[in-house]
Amino acid sequence: MRNEIANFKDCKSIAIMGGTFDPIHNGHLVTAEAVRHRFKVDRVVFMPAGQPAHKANKKVTHNEHRYLMTVLATMRNENFEVSRIEIDRPGATYTIDTIEELKKICRPDVRLYFITGADAIHQIMTWKQPERLLTLCDFVAVTRPGYDRAKLFEDIGEIREKYASRIHYMEVPALAISSSDIREREQKGEPIKYLVPQEVEDYIHKFGLYHDDMAKEVKFMLSLETMQEKLQSAISVKRYIHTLGVADEAVKLAEIYGTTQDQQKARVAGLLHDCAKDYPESMRQRFCKEYKVKTDEIMNKQTDLIHPFLGAEVAKREYQVMDEDVLNAIRFHTTGRPNMSLLEKIVFIADYIEPNREKFGGLDEARRLAYLDLDKAMAYILENTIEYVKARGRLLHPLSVEALEYYKNL
Ligand SMILES: [Fe+2]
Ligand SMILES: [Fe+2]
Repeated sequence: MRNEIANFKDCKSIAIMGGTFDPIHNGHLVTAEAVRHRFKVDRVVFMPAGQPAHKANKKVTHNEHRYLMTVLATMRNENFEVSRIEIDRPGATYTIDTIEELKKICRPDVRLYFITGADAIHQIMTWKQPERLLTLCDFVAVTRPGYDRAKLFEDIGEIREKYASRIHYMEVPALAISSSDIREREQKGEPIKYLVPQEVEDYIHKFGLYHDDMAKEVKFMLSLETMQEKLQSAISVKRYIHTLGVADEAVKLAEIYGTTQDQQKARVAGLLHDCAKDYPESMRQRFCKEYKVKTDEIMNKQTDLIHPFLGAEVAKREYQVMDEDVLNAIRFHTTGRPNMSLLEKIVFIADYIEPNREKFGGLDEARRLAYLDLDKAMAYILENTIEYVKARGRLLHPLSVEALEYYKNL
């Protein structure tokens, strides 16, 4: 993480520009510059939002892509900064938490302006701790021309009267540009030039963002048949059957929750998740050393916790899997972790509920939840697993505890 303290600590006034920035566009930049000029703030801090916590939300481009595009877009303006505060915070994002966090690293007398769409002003009273929020910062409601101002002014007036807060209004013509329009144009192959900075356009093209990837094939170096052949000679028959079950179940879950791409990745991650589980101890130690698998104290005592982490490295080197998401799904299939990707959750859950599992208490409920709500299934399985581990006097990995905490509180 960048040292944000060094960048903000001496500023007397800061404007915060929140948003998903999927992608950031010239409308955002023009708005930020206009606010900076009108309110004479020292800095404008762009604050890309984290991943939405609930699957019901529309799919948002990966945090790091959105963050990097924001960095690229703002790099030529010395008064613009980009903060990772929201990106790095797991779970749902509340403005109040962000403002409080910023306050901690700024001068005590800093004046904060929070830039937000006019639509948000109508809903501001439904936000977390609205009264406190309104005392902590000024609000700048920005709109494109043609917005129905009458209702907005009514709301602003009411809030001003009630909370003696400062809400400003600003019309920015460049806000006619919208991120959703840019995504649509990109998908249709229409130009986005001059709507986004050149660097952002280049970045979008380099990574093929915003193209409908529903039908895109994922390329793996080895064919499925080759992977299965290799796998069969590396693990026991029983494990191989389990592995096929996990792959099938993972694909089924991906059919419901994901894209065609996710299904292909789910098949490979399911197949390979236990690829290092039957290694004899000496071999495991040798590979751990060779592949530089970091083990911690708990893993060294509870050695069955090593196979997912080693498995990810084996998948990479022996099975030539390069997809980071697939590797992470293998890596975290036993412990879990907070804020898992769709694929990670799918493989974790499929490992627990695959059809070849012998019946045990909680299996039916886990299966029911898996096809209802992945996050609820995660919480349920983690809780059961932790209980099971404790009952057997085995060591619990802290990642599992953190994961349970995370999924219980969603
Ligand atoms: Fe496993
Ligand atoms: Fe497994």
